[in-house]
Amino acid sequence: MSQWIWMNGELVAYEDAKVHVLTHALHYGTGVFEGVRAYENPSGQPAIFRHGDHIDRLFQSAGLYHMEIPFSKEEIRAATHETITRNGLKSCYIRPLVFRGAGPMGLFPLDCPVEVTIAVWEWGAYLGDEGKQNGIRGKVSSWRRISPDSLIPAAKATGQYLNSVLAKIEADKAGYEEGILLDQRGMVCEGTGENLFIVKDGTIATPGFTSSILGGINRLSAIEIARDLGYEVVERDIARGELYLADEIFMTGTAAELTPLRELDDQPVGEGRPGPITREIQNVFEDALHGRAERYAHWLDVVPAPAPAP
Ligand SMILES: Cc1ncc(COP(=O)(O)O)c(C=O)c1O
Repeated sequence: MSQWIWMNGELVAYEDAKVHVLTHALHYGTGVFEGVRAYENPSGQPAIFRHGDHIDRLFQSAGLYHMEIPFSKEEIRAATHETITRNGLKSCYIRPLVFRGAGPMGLFPLDCPVEVTIAVWEWGAYLGDEGKQNGIRGKVSSWRRISPDSLIPAAKATGQYLNSVLAKIEADKAGYEEGILLDQRGMVCEGTGENLFIVKDGTIATPGFTSSILGGINRLSAIEIARDLGYEVVERDIARGELYLADEIFMTGTAAELTPLRELDDQPVGEGRPGPITREIQNVFEDALHGRAERYAHWLDVVPAPAPAP
């Protein structure tokens, strides 16, 4: 863990970044958050991948739960830069969190304060470097993804993640690295923290918003890269059975980056190792993340170097 955490406008020491037990979000899940990453670019500076898109989604998620963030988007961006710089990090995971703090108890949240924190830390590939290289083993979860008639799948809200937590525990206890959730109709949705793509006969497909996905920012990047490479990418419903017939499957997310699936429900995906199209997209994606792809340089928000000490 790093030394400084940004809390409501100032940097506080890691051990002082505390909340009250009557924090509304602890009781009712009334928080929204982002997962963002910065990578060291070739000139040795940290550069945040699609920072503006993550900040936009944070404000969108907050709005969906009637939370007014007491800082502007530009203030959140500057605070993130400051937190990375003060912690002396070049590459890190970034976790902005907006939540209802301590106030009147009960479900009505609008009289509780809206608090904002930004934490950063060094974090390796979420599903492992081995997983990124050779693919992971997945399991279709017995839990269905939250449905749009109960919650808002497109919002990245803390309480909604109890659904992912159940699926993650189930997959882990059964000996798999990741769970894949179907939507309320039984169509393929996504992993517990990643969007999903299948490749069949050279065409790529991924579920759309009608399948209750979280609109992943890395999903958009993978779609753009794949199209730039000349592949057809279709957003459509995917039946569970198509997973077993796919030539290749991969998942995208800020934490997991681009991770292939080599096995699903004990069946090999394709030949049981990452396929050529997955690999091709993954290579360009990695170049984009690390600032090695000129074409996608506009996706990076370079953190300015700290001012020299007077
Ligand atoms: C449920 C879920 N789906 C998909 C994603 C992928 O989103 P992104 O690519 O923006 O990280 C995430 C991660 O944030 C997630 O938690």
